[in-house]
Amino acid sequence: MKQVMITGADGQLGKALLELVPDGYTTLPANRATLDITSDSAVRQWCNDNKPSAIINAAAYTAVDKAESDTELASLVNEQGAGNLARAAAEHDIPIVQVSTDFIFNGRKGSPYLPEDSADPLSIYGATKLGGEQLVLAEAASRATIIRTAWVYNESGSNFVTTMLRLMAERDSLSVVADQVGTPTNVNGLADACWNCLAKEVRGIHHWTDAGVASWYDFAHIIQQTALDLGLLNREIPVLPIPASQYPTPAVRPTMSVLDKTSTWAALQCEPIHWQVQLRTALEKLVR
Ligand SMILES: NC(=O)c1ccc[n+]([C@@H]2O[C@H](COP(=O)([O-])OP(=O)(O)OC[C@H]3O[C@@H](n4cnc5c(N)ncnc54)[C@H](OP(=O)(O)O)[C@@H]3O)[C@@H](O)[C@H]2O)c1
Repeated sequence: MKQVMITGADGQLGKALLELVPDGYTTLPANRATLDITSDSAVRQWCNDNKPSAIINAAAYTAVDKAESDTELASLVNEQGAGNLARAAAEHDIPIVQVSTDFIFNGRKGSPYLPEDSADPLSIYGATKLGGEQLVLAEAASRATIIRTAWVYNESGSNFVTTMLRLMAERDSLSVVADQVGTPTNVNGLADACWNCLAKEVRGIHHWTDAGVASWYDFAHIIQQTALDLGLLNREIPVLPIPASQYPTPAVRPTMSVLDKTSTWAALQCEPIHWQVQLRTALEKLVR
């Protein structure tokens, strides 16, 4: 039985990883209270004590806007923390899966980003996640898998889907950004992809989101239509498209950051699932 260290065990992805453990694996969960990944000595001690056979790093500083003014901590967690885990992976000669983001790209390519495309982050969050990728590849080398993902949600917790459902129940109309395009990603599909990378020994840089593309406005529109259809909302409100310029945020986000998953789908031998199908599956769980 392989024992996999799951960092960020209390986070959105960490919880999904713990729920979807495949046959042949058990988990060694580590949350912030039990292991601060920014401490090299704590990471080393934890790995010596627990002897994991692989690491999935789902811990990260994910407050994208706050990172603009909290640069030091964002860098400590996303760069040094990832580097500490990769060094431990190298010392124990075990694989490591590092989760990263579409925000390492500037969004100006005009077509889906390939894993080998040049990075050019627009935000501190994106820059620190890119730094984390580079440290993991430098420290763990051929043991490392980088999985870049985007727009991750679940039917519970705090994310775009649950926020939209709450606001759609509370408000009489909603304005949503229509000129930023990406792909929504159900966290369970992402967790399966992480596990599959370990099981199939898929290494190197990979992209994972659900299939298809959407603007935030499209995503919100389909959330409302699906929720109405499933009886999760009892009235329709106007959802209005606005440009990002009317919703200023401290961190600049890429305009078009769709990730090309072709090589990952082939390596993992899996069928792409459209984000609208994944969304419906997720929302159906709220009906039961
Ligand atoms: N969510 C998205 O839309 C999205 C998009 C692209 C990429 N990603 C990437 O996907 C991965 C998983 O994200 P997520 O949505 O699951 O994020 P999340 O819900 O914010 O989970 C991150 C977890 O990391 C923990 N953490 C933070 N600092 C730590 C430290 N120093 N030591 C140990 N644990 C620490 C957090 O604990 P606290 O809660 O106590 O701070 C939290 O439980 C991350 O690598 C993220 O960059 C996410």
